[in-house]
Amino acid sequence: MAKIKIFADKNLKIGDIDQNIYGSFLEHLGRAIYEGIYEPGHPAADKDGFREDVIALIRELGVPLVRYPGGNFVSGYDWRDGIGKRSERKARLDLAWTSVESNEFGTDEFMKWCQKAGISPMLAVNMGTGTPKDALELFEYCNHPSGTYYSDLRRKNASEKPYGVKYWCIGNEMDGPWQICGLDADEYGKKALQTMRMLRWADAKKADEAGAVKFVVCGSCNAGMKTYPEWDRIVLEHTYEETDFISMHQYYEYKPDSKNPLEDFLGCADSMSDFIDTVRSTINYVRAKKRSRRKVYISFDEWNIWTQSAERTEPDWIKAPHILEDVYTFRDMLVFGGMMNALLNNADVVKAACLAQLVNVIAPIVTQKGGPAIRQTTFYPFRYVSQNGRGETIRSISTSGEFDTERGKARFINEAVTHDPAKREVCVFLCNYSQKAEEVELELRSFGDLTCKQFVSITSNDLDAANTFARPEAVLPEEREPVPVKGGSIADVKLAGMSWNFLRFAY
Ligand code: AHR
Repeated sequence: MAKIKIFADKNLKIGDIDQNIYGSFLEHLGRAIYEGIYEPGHPAADKDGFREDVIALIRELGVPLVRYPGGNFVSGYDWRDGIGKRSERKARLDLAWTSVESNEFGTDEFMKWCQKAGISPMLAVNMGTGTPKDALELFEYCNHPSGTYYSDLRRKNASEKPYGVKYWCIGNEMDGPWQICGLDADEYGKKALQTMRMLRWADAKKADEAGAVKFVVCGSCNAGMKTYPEWDRIVLEHTYEETDFISMHQYYEYKPDSKNPLEDFLGCADSMSDFIDTVRSTINYVRAKKRSRRKVYISFDEWNIWTQSAERTEPDWIKAPHILEDVYTFRDMLVFGGMMNALLNNADVVKAACLAQLVNVIAPIVTQKGGPAIRQTTFYPFRYVSQNGRGETIRSISTSGEFDTERGKARFINEAVTHDPAKREVCVFLCNYSQKAEEVELELRSFGDLTCKQFVSITSNDLDAANTFARPEAVLPEEREPVPVKGGSIADVKLAGMSWNFLRFAY
């Protein structure tokens, strides 16, 4: 068996890891809100109807930031429908998901839930049916202290103190033909710029000033869009001096009927890195063209595996339909682990990211109405990476072999190496995409004497294995014997064929 060598040197830093790359997303879609985080009457619900069993799982996942209220939903949403007395709130058509939105849960409930769950909110404003003025008024409602119509309305409805929302997404996927009142790149770029200017004036702080709010403009909604990457260039040319982030979204799908389904799917993690590379280059191009000193970063605020070809079985125009409730397999978990590595390996430019989504809808947590909440397969890599992948990512050089996929070559061993100087720890996250067990020699240079403290693997002999209410523990991580470290820097690790692995070293 050939040994795969991975070298990582403390001095070869890629970038500081922003904890907000472990963000997630809750949309008014299916059962994410209703029966997900909010279910009055559930045995685990508190007096506000927030499910505490779900909050406990979210805390275990280590999610610091949640994007809300959409998604496609936001482009038809009037935030005013979701505030004030519950008995007076009106049910509306949600055109994005052909559902009924009762508006029982809105901005104030979300803010209260965030405070309870220890999460920072990332609010998206409506750039579809909504105007810059609607966005400004939401901003005033959330962030202005008092003495104006909307700030005083917030004080009356829910909170004396302003919410101080720091992250604002200026619309959602405005390039998508499915988006309610979608725009072309010039139209959107101009509208986003005007909106951000108004919100900046309301914030009364300049871009880049300490404590200023942060904006995310819409980038292409996936790498397959015909307008990609021109959309990103044009939008950035309009907004470069005002925005802090450009968004990226990408979902991958296992297509069993394609020619090499497994290889093509496993190669997705590498494609995600290529996609980030292109957007990084586009940002750099616009920065150079504008002779700007500012740095704009990427907010990868929707990423996951999603079987988009699945048919809807629930009727239209009902509240909280069971839609997009993907059951994640062991195979999905392997690709998901590689996607997390892609975020880490691009920590220089990806400074926020949201796993889409958090509960029930393409999510790591699934609930039953009136019943329990369980962890899907993807819950586990997310939990280990978010809890341990802190500090900075360091560059690694690998001799791993490659396999062919529809999008080009991909590596059998997909890795990310992080270093937390505060904790004096080095963590290595490894996916083995080979059917065979692989011997990997890890050479971790310049740290001094390392000791392996933890070795966790997720393995299965069934790629279709999944955690369900009937078998919630079908796929679980296993703690293994920590590996010896030769000379304080070289560790030989045997990885099972098709596995996700995590090693933690201390010095
Ligand atoms: O996360 C599900 C949907 O995917 C979101 O509403 C949209 O932004 C994307 O197309």
